[in-house]
Amino acid sequence: MKIALDGPSGAGKSSLAKAIAKELHIVYVDTGALYRSIGLFVRGREVDPKNAEAVIACLPDIQLEMVFEKGEQHIYLCGEDVGDRIRTPEISMYASAVSAIPAVREFLLETQRSIARKTSVIMDGRDIGTVILPDAEVKIFLTASAEARAKRRTLELAAKGISTTYEEVLADMRERDTNDSTRKTAPAIPAEDAVFLDNSDLSVEETIAAALAIIRDKTEK
Ligand code: DC
Repeated sequence: MKIALDGPSGAGKSSLAKAIAKELHIVYVDTGALYRSIGLFVRGREVDPKNAEAVIACLPDIQLEMVFEKGEQHIYLCGEDVGDRIRTPEISMYASAVSAIPAVREFLLETQRSIARKTSVIMDGRDIGTVILPDAEVKIFLTASAEARAKRRTLELAAKGISTTYEEVLADMRERDTNDSTRKTAPAIPAEDAVFLDNSDLSVEETIAAALAIIRDKTEK
């Protein structure tokens, strides 16, 4: 079984995907972490993430491995677990910039597809339903208003001890939304056969229930 879960940043894709993976006993794959890891590498090299040529020159030196330990995803970048270093607001912007470069997307394509060939997955990202797993049995496009997403992301960052303000998070989110949805290659738009789920006014539990209903409906057909 392949479930594609796409949508903008902060819509709650990862919490939803984790809950569904647990419920259905399938593997949760967070593809944003791959773009973030490339962002981390590029930053380490002091390369401008918007400079496509310079980013592409880094690719041959990037070894990325996605492994699952006790059901948890870990990314090893050149042999080292990236951990939470990829979760900072700065790396979010790096990830968004490098993800607009077609060669970077191509570089990560096979890593993502090969996982879905080996096991049943719920994969979250931006182009899972359109590019990575166009044959997924279920495609959900999870969205929420920018304000609702920024509010949640601010709380999430605060819980991790990363200090920012709601206004900063909202501005970053709008900038990333524009970058991600207007880029030429694999823009973050819903697949034609995706089911929309807007959770601006839904609790986490309600979102999970709605997604499970969509999955049940699609898989029973
Ligand atoms: O889901 P996330 O916020 O961790 O993703 C980080 C960035 O990576 C995001 O700005 C867009 C990009 N991304 C992408 O282009 N395609 C994906 N499948 C996943 C993430």
